[in-house]
Amino acid sequence: NKYLQDRELIRAALEARVRAYAPYSGYLVGAALLTASGTVFQGCNIENASYGAANCAERTAFFKAVSQGEREFLAIAIVGGPSGGEPEDFCPPCGVCRQVMMEFCDPESFMIYLGKADGEIREYRLKELLPLGFSGKGVERKE
Ligand code: THU
Repeated sequence: NKYLQDRELIRAALEARVRAYAPYSGYLVGAALLTASGTVFQGCNIENASYGAANCAERTAFFKAVSQGEREFLAIAIVGGPSGGEPEDFCPPCGVCRQVMMEFCDPESFMIYLGKADGEIREYRLKELLPLGFSGKGVERKE
């Protein structure tokens, strides 16, 4: 049941958001990435005093998963909002994270679920959020 899967993933993203390290922006983001084998990898944003060294929640989840040997992904749930409360608005993924999704996911089928505290969920395919995305087709691969 897809509706349940969405809600389960959002719940996992909300759980991960609590572990965000975001003392500079005060904006906490959580992500939960579902692999083809059914495993869920959670991620949070991790900031740095050297601001540009921050990593988004979505990329934390992807890099955890890929570094554990995962290469096939079905969906990601994302929630974000200021600390001191639950997310009241949707948190769409940044452009860099969309490009990382493009590297590992099928833009026709990979689903992006955005959630917020009131339970509303919006869902998109990667191709909708990254139209005409650069897939690396034609780029020589060394491995
Ligand atoms: N951030 C994410 O983790 N994911 C997003 O989709 C948007 C932005 C983080 C980066 C930074 O730590 C904070 O949110 C404010 O931009």
